[in-house]
Amino acid sequence: MKRIGILNSGGDCPGLNAVIHGVVGAATKLGWEVIGFRDGFEGLLPPGDYMVLDTNRTVGIMKMGGTILGTTNKGHFVAKIGKGDVMGVPPEIVAKARSTMELLEIGALIVVGGDGSLTTALQLYREGFPVIGVPKTIDNDLQATAMTFGFDSAVATVVDALDRLHTTATSHKRVIVLEVMGRHAGWIALYGGIGGGADVILLPEIPFKMEHVAKAVKRRDARGQLSTLIVVAEGAKLESGEQVSVKSTEGEDRLGGVGDRVAKLVEELTEKETRACTLGHLQRGGAPTSLDRILGTRFGVKAVNLIEEGQFGRMVSYQQYHVGAVPIEEAVNQLRLVDPSGEVVKTARAVGISFGDD
Ligand code: F6P
Repeated sequence: MKRIGILNSGGDCPGLNAVIHGVVGAATKLGWEVIGFRDGFEGLLPPGDYMVLDTNRTVGIMKMGGTILGTTNKGHFVAKIGKGDVMGVPPEIVAKARSTMELLEIGALIVVGGDGSLTTALQLYREGFPVIGVPKTIDNDLQATAMTFGFDSAVATVVDALDRLHTTATSHKRVIVLEVMGRHAGWIALYGGIGGGADVILLPEIPFKMEHVAKAVKRRDARGQLSTLIVVAEGAKLESGEQVSVKSTEGEDRLGGVGDRVAKLVEELTEKETRACTLGHLQRGGAPTSLDRILGTRFGVKAVNLIEEGQFGRMVSYQQYHVGAVPIEEAVNQLRLVDPSGEVVKTARAVGISFGDD
């Protein structure tokens, strides 16, 4: 009997349990056993911290947010910090993980993760581990897959928030700035902003000027539209080029705070009452959308198919409505960012949304 190990690493993300559910369902049908390592790669440290996953254990988990395995974006296996500084996992840690794999007779390891975790997965693969990658992140910033699960759920939360902010902004004739997640990519802000009817969207990929943002607010006022909703991605850069972040003593600084800064500047430049709201981890929590449940299931089943075919070192990938696979290294070489002259940005501009650049 083949025994598969699965772990998820990095930030949690709606749809993780759907992947686990899919993996366990497909593997069980093939007569394989699945064990889930707890708290990301940390579960691989000897003697192994894991739970046996069978279909009794995974009943009903698909609709649950978070992950039944627990996760971390810290620990012994961090191989990449920020946009690109690859450090590598120390050899003694790799050796420990190898001994756990051998002890537990793991024939294949499914790693569900974003950019950082897949960088670790790639290193382990290059060092001989039978690894399959599954792309996960609400940020949707992974190359080599058109979409990651979790993104749609995050966007749905942004849209819901904007619907709510719309009624209060209109009642008070205010400007409201909503800061959303996404790290260095503006996908959540762009899709959430369009779906939620934002008037201004500020992205890391499109440099903006506050005078243009203020102009957009004043133009609306002149038309009698006395409230304005502005969505700003946490990674958007101020005119000085600064990305606003919270200092961290361990690892990467956390992005956050640009919403407050933009709100203050808008108030100064327009003299309109302005409020800022940061959506934060609400975007990561809660039940996955139906799209993310289905995508997660498809990814999980595909990962098991790849193991069956012995296609290690590959990552499940979604392209043109089809779930296929690509080498893991294609996914982690660089971040997938919003194309400033792409169709979605053009669509937004066509319906009058300002990006603060004209
Ligand atoms: O990568 C997912 C993400 O939610 C980013 O959008 C955000 O910048 C970061 O994780 C937040 O991380 P943490 O949960 O460590 O605060």
